[in-house]
Amino acid sequence: MISPVAEYWPRFGLSPEDLMERARECCGRAYAPYSGFPVGAAVLTEWGKVVGGCNVENASYGMSLCAERVAMAGAALAGSRHPLAIAVASGRPAFCPPCGACRQFLSEFNPEIDVVLSVDGRLEIYRLDFLLPHRFKLEMT
Ligand code: THU
Repeated sequence: MISPVAEYWPRFGLSPEDLMERARECCGRAYAPYSGFPVGAAVLTEWGKVVGGCNVENASYGMSLCAERVAMAGAALAGSRHPLAIAVASGRPAFCPPCGACRQFLSEFNPEIDVVLSVDGRLEIYRLDFLLPHRFKLEMT
């Protein structure tokens, strides 16, 4: 289900297109020599700061980092505990929704974060709880 453009964007003088543009810039910084699949991401914090990330691969493939997790880790370092939105861009025209692991990682901070994606040259926004129903929660009762 596609979400409408939320009320917080104009408060920060930003649009989903601006966030996607930042994600595309970050995609240009990707280190993806093994897959040849660069990805960029940009997180919008709860106070309107944008924090970027790109995928960073490794010769030991499993150590590779996804762009979304790099961006979210940077946002957490900047103090974000309830980010509002994340845009994801790959170097290709293809639809690039976050992988399952990144969905879980993002849900730690905001299970309803807006995920801005580029689909056939236009933007679509999905709430994370639509992309990841029944996220894992550590409940030890
Ligand atoms: N990748 C991301 O950065 N984000 C995702 O959500 C899925 C995949 C990266 C990991 C790897 O460097 C490359 O894309 C190919 O899987």
